[in-house]
Amino acid sequence: MGLGLASWNILLQLLLLCAYRSGARELREESLPQMDVQLHHMHIAHHSSHVDVNSSEVKIFFTLRDLKVGNKMALYLPIEDHSNSAHFLPSEEADSFPFSLKQLPYILELTSIPRVSPQAKAMEDTLRMCETDPIKDEIKTCATSLESMLDFAGSIFGSETGFKTVTTKSTSNTFQNYTILEVQEIPASKMVACHYMSYPYAIYGCHSHMTENINKVFRVSLVGDNGDIADAISACHLDTSQWNPDHLSFQILGIKPGTIPVCHYFPTDHLVFVPAAKDEFM
Ligand SMILES: *[C@@H]1O[C@H](CO)[C@@H](O)[C@H](O)[C@H]1NC(C)=O
Ligand SMILES: *[C@@H]1O[C@H](CO)[C@@H](O)[C@H](O)[C@H]1NC(C)=O
Repeated sequence: MGLGLASWNILLQLLLLCAYRSGARELREESLPQMDVQLHHMHIAHHSSHVDVNSSEVKIFFTLRDLKVGNKMALYLPIEDHSNSAHFLPSEEADSFPFSLKQLPYILELTSIPRVSPQAKAMEDTLRMCETDPIKDEIKTCATSLESMLDFAGSIFGSETGFKTVTTKSTSNTFQNYTILEVQEIPASKMVACHYMSYPYAIYGCHSHMTENINKVFRVSLVGDNGDIADAISACHLDTSQWNPDHLSFQILGIKPGTIPVCHYFPTDHLVFVPAAKDEFM
């Protein structure tokens, strides 16, 4: 399946994740996760300008200058909630299942999901995002199975490089000020970010960049005002010249495309793939 040198470590992690996303095996309406602004960070990050700049969900952007021990930032880092999540289909099933906006009426019929329902709307949004063209230098895919997600990551890092996943860990659902305790750069000439998207089974929207070294990845230890601890993965995009000038981050930070790096924290339900150090894979 083209896993190449991909570390077993990551496969294990993902299998655990899948086991964790237990529950409905068949395509049931209840297994549909709720639409959530936070889940649509990829959308926010690259395409949308229609989100309330002042809502707590979007307060995830900052600049490289802000990434200093002792700095404070108000953040909403909801704990990953698996109770409502769909899980991966086996790849043979996923590959044979229709997955296009054009076929949505047929998909809804197959899954007995009412045409006019929040679920149908969420599926439409997911398919629309999946069919949006990548911006310049971006490579993206919607992975409909674990295998296709690992294949995509493998294709980005190449067969010579092992890779691993890093994720944001949070212990609090409270929007609050967090103080930075420690900043640790994770060496990553390339990275792949995958985010969970609403669908009757697990879909991850994954994207990466062709150019190397245009992102920096950090692990940031944070403590909330109420004492809650978080271990947040953050990425800083060094080149934003191709981004939409109406991009939310520019509005929030009050800057223009292609000026200073834009950073953000990853929500807890994102998987970030980075190269594994030699001693981290076999
Ligand atoms: C966001 O908050 C700022 C400062 O409080 C305010 O000036 C601005 O109008 C608000 N924007 C929206 C879209 O609510
Ligand atoms: C964070 O701290 C600032 C400055 O002290 C304060 O104005 C703001 O209300 C705080 N935000 C939250 C969510 O507690």
